[in-house]
Amino acid sequence: MMQQILDDITAQMALETDRGKVADYIPQLAHVNPNQFGISVATPDGQVYSAGDANTLFSIQSISKVFTLTIGLSKLGSTLWNHVGREPSGDPFNSITILEYESGRPRNPFINAGAIAVVDAITMGREPEEILDEIIQFVHFIADDASICFDYKVARSEIDHEDRNAALAHFMKSFGHLQYDVDKILNTYFHQCSIAMSCEQLARAGLFLVSNGINQPTGAKVISPQQSKRINSLMMMCGHYDGSGEFAYQVGLPGKSGVGGGILAIAPGKGAIAVWSPGLNSVGNSKLGTKALELLGERTGWSVF
Ligand code: DON
Repeated sequence: MMQQILDDITAQMALETDRGKVADYIPQLAHVNPNQFGISVATPDGQVYSAGDANTLFSIQSISKVFTLTIGLSKLGSTLWNHVGREPSGDPFNSITILEYESGRPRNPFINAGAIAVVDAITMGREPEEILDEIIQFVHFIADDASICFDYKVARSEIDHEDRNAALAHFMKSFGHLQYDVDKILNTYFHQCSIAMSCEQLARAGLFLVSNGINQPTGAKVISPQQSKRINSLMMMCGHYDGSGEFAYQVGLPGKSGVGGGILAIAPGKGAIAVWSPGLNSVGNSKLGTKALELLGERTGWSVF
């Protein structure tokens, strides 16, 4: 049944001619072939269903913000919210405007400024190498896969074109809202975004959010049930930036997008869905990925509403 649904969706996506536009503000991502499409669904019973290019590695980009938020919440608990808010911004992912009105405190952990503030919060005096080691080990733990790596070319490409994120970070620092060295924080942030994963790996990594903080197939306790619910709430409200309302309306599931064209969506109690197609819509979220999730929602009835 699920396999048939994924095969049908993949066949339908192959017919799409308007596939959106690949992100080019990170030059290394501009080289990715836009004709690719992959989808995987991981379920708590340990099954993974896949179709299309589900084993091809892609740059998870902002989806990594879910993982650093999880690390931040487990390390700092509710004091994380001293560093970052939890309201939708209604603004693009790299916007600076609200930061000025709100004294350098970013609205939520999923816009770039918020994710940079989360990196600052989890730094705790450590060097980027140590934090990155913690982040990648955490991804290995939740995905049950130690082969997942950073893509150093993508990270380099972002460092070479860091002006907007550097502006956000310096602006926050000018309000006293970041504690550590901006270059080091950005170094960590760019590497975190460069992690390369396949749809299959990403769907497995999302399983802890399906089952109240526990990865059922491995038994790993990742985070408390309450924190898992809260991460899902944030994904629903803020995971697609200024496209979050539309995504909630069309799909009805918590989701987090990345400019690499990936989306991780969570159907609580049912499954984690990872979809990838590199072309983006006007607000920087995967065009076919969103469409595929709408179709999956129609076929499965998976929605939190
Ligand atoms: O900082 C950036 O701009 C990228 N590393 C991440 C942005 C992103 O993925 C936005 N999501 N759709």
